[in-house]
Amino acid sequence: MSDTGERTQLLAAAEEHDGFAAFSEAFVRGLERGDERGAGHQHLERRVDGALVGLAALAPDGSAELVVHPDARRRGLGKDLAAEVLRINPAAGLWAHGNLPGAQATASSLGLVPTRELYVMEISGEALIQAADVRLPEGVEALPYPEAVERYGVESVDQQWLEVNNDAFSWHPEQGGWDLKRLRDATGAAWYSPEGVWFLYEDGDMAGFHWTKQHSAGVGEVYVVGLSSAVRGRGLGTPVMGVGLKHLVGAGVNKVILYVESDNERAVRRYRALGFRVSESHVVYAIPE
Ligand SMILES: CC(C)(COP(=O)(O)OP(=O)(O)OC[C@H]1O[C@@H](n2cnc3c(N)ncnc32)[C@H](O)[C@@H]1OP(=O)(O)O)[C@@H](O)C(=O)NCCC(=O)NCCS
Repeated sequence: MSDTGERTQLLAAAEEHDGFAAFSEAFVRGLERGDERGAGHQHLERRVDGALVGLAALAPDGSAELVVHPDARRRGLGKDLAAEVLRINPAAGLWAHGNLPGAQATASSLGLVPTRELYVMEISGEALIQAADVRLPEGVEALPYPEAVERYGVESVDQQWLEVNNDAFSWHPEQGGWDLKRLRDATGAAWYSPEGVWFLYEDGDMAGFHWTKQHSAGVGEVYVVGLSSAVRGRGLGTPVMGVGLKHLVGAGVNKVILYVESDNERAVRRYRALGFRVSESHVVYAIPE
């Protein structure tokens, strides 16, 4: 079995060649554990003359990622690894970050079809400045987390935040159904900044929230944004986006990204109208049902 360094080198070589990381954060963490089934991930390898040239990881939930070293491609290794993943779990979904030609060809040669597509959308320059120029409707106030806590107390703020989140994401497999522990875990991440979480209040009630994430000095993310169903359809979508974008621009950011499911057409339309455009596509390929 390979050491972590060998695997990291393989991933780095592929990323440099492709412009996209083949493994997402959770799969990289699975590798860092170093053991054969780290984080519950099953790892498969391919070697040529002893050197690691192919690697696949399969998570317990059926999601999978795979990579072949740029110098070892077009020799059947990728197809072979993908086929082995699908033998182990025929319901597995293979992530193709960037949906590169090699991934599309490998998927099609195995008869796989896209089952999910995640967009990265981005906004920058003048469009960002404009979108960040937020106007709040009368009676609506925007407060960052620390100020909201000062005014309403931490328990009330966290409780209302959870209620709005669970209401806005009742349909969502990962973002819905949160409890206080889940919120505390999420806000315990090293990058978390309470100043980057903004709430819209109307008559003391939380109407929506915008949780931002700053990736680097110049790049921010619309991490989670949600409106309570009670206020939907009243034009608060643009202000709730705007307060977070304003915060990020104020923090020196000149590009903001967000992740959205391609079939969430309403959200994609709303983001386009604000000036976002699709910059990346990440596709899951699987055996057709
Ligand atoms: C996708 C990837 C794993 C394919 O690895 P590989 O070892 O080159 O794949 P294979 O040699 O087994 O090729 C599989 C099929 O795709 C075709 N193919 C692969 N790359 C191609 C390309 N760039 N253009 C056209 N066809 C290509 C092969 O000709 C082969 O077709 P065939 O079965 O009809 O003969 C590799 O390109 C990679 O690591 N990409 C970055 C990570 C990634 O996108 N992973 C997602 C996998 S779904």
